[in-house]
Amino acid sequence: MTIDVPSPDAATQPTTGPLDLIDVDHVRFYVGNAKQAAHFYAHEFGFQIEQFTDLTTGSREEASYLLTQGNIRFVLTTGLAQDHIAQEHVKLYGDGVRDVAFCVDDATAAYETALKNGGASAYEPMTISDERGSVTMAGIETYGRVIHSFVERSGEYGLRKLKKGGPFAPGYSAVGPLAINDYNKKNPCGLMFVDHCVGNVEEGKMNHWVEWYENVLEFKLFKHFDDKDISTEYSALMSKVMASGNQLIKMPINEPADGKKKSQILEYLEWHNMTPGVQHVALRTDDELHSITELRKRGVDFLLLPKTYYDIVWDRVGEIQEDKDAVEELGILVDRDDEGYLLQLFTRPLQDRPTLFFEIICRRGSQSFGKGNFKALFEALELEQERRGNL
Ligand code: FE2
Repeated sequence: MTIDVPSPDAATQPTTGPLDLIDVDHVRFYVGNAKQAAHFYAHEFGFQIEQFTDLTTGSREEASYLLTQGNIRFVLTTGLAQDHIAQEHVKLYGDGVRDVAFCVDDATAAYETALKNGGASAYEPMTISDERGSVTMAGIETYGRVIHSFVERSGEYGLRKLKKGGPFAPGYSAVGPLAINDYNKKNPCGLMFVDHCVGNVEEGKMNHWVEWYENVLEFKLFKHFDDKDISTEYSALMSKVMASGNQLIKMPINEPADGKKKSQILEYLEWHNMTPGVQHVALRTDDELHSITELRKRGVDFLLLPKTYYDIVWDRVGEIQEDKDAVEELGILVDRDDEGYLLQLFTRPLQDRPTLFFEIICRRGSQSFGKGNFKALFEALELEQERRGNL
């Protein structure tokens, strides 16, 4: 993909310390079958299947596919060797997110600072290089079995070049011509970058992980968080949003709370071996109507809202620049705060277990997360849980 979509203000942020995160380098998923999963995400969500490693490229431990769209990079990895950690991951949790990796200036310095701040090592700094350049990575453990890698790039592997379709890392080969890649170029879904990445943790553990992000990664509680909003009759979850120093990276944390019915967070945990993990990845678009139209055309399975949602939503949200009839027809959620509004829609789970899903979000000034939609959403989610016999 050659579209160079910058993350918000990425280039304008001053560098002040080792934990200054330049961008989401990539999100790595562990999956049961990377080759097939690559085609699922390409067909459903319009990703380009760009680069890969497998037995034919000399990789005997794992196979990985790099999928890109705008400034989003997903790496789908499956274990080839029997004792590869991805195999265990898939056995315990099904397909899901393993690594939310951040691009930094100095991966070793970021890693050492995170350890000094109380973080635990997932793996020590390692450099892979060839005549084109090098990639240095080091990882720390966060909630459950999720890790954050720090990625430092140089030469042909630099982030700027990667955004323009450059090589991901030594060992990766370009994928040959694929009909789906041509189709996606002609029919773009308009997804630009990762807006936020939400983790589900156990009951009573949210504040622990909030402090972890404050202490270890030097994140801050996002300024738009309002603790009056976290608990409603329906919500049965509590949530706090953590943001990196430059607010480029947002990692909300959810925990289940006692409600009238089983929390959606508890349902996630029960199908995730009672282990915290990434609940959803929100992908940003500048044109929600176009993106949702294209994704629906491709058969993306979105959450169905209660019919009553649009009876009251416009009283709450007021005027928007999009066509309201189209918003309603496409089943998109809308919310407003004092800075503007947002449009959002959630997919159903992306795999058979009710675990990971995507959100497609468009911001028109609003920097919040759609708290006005909580009640409508929870009603919709409860219907889904009931269908699965998990309520
Ligand atoms: Fe979200």
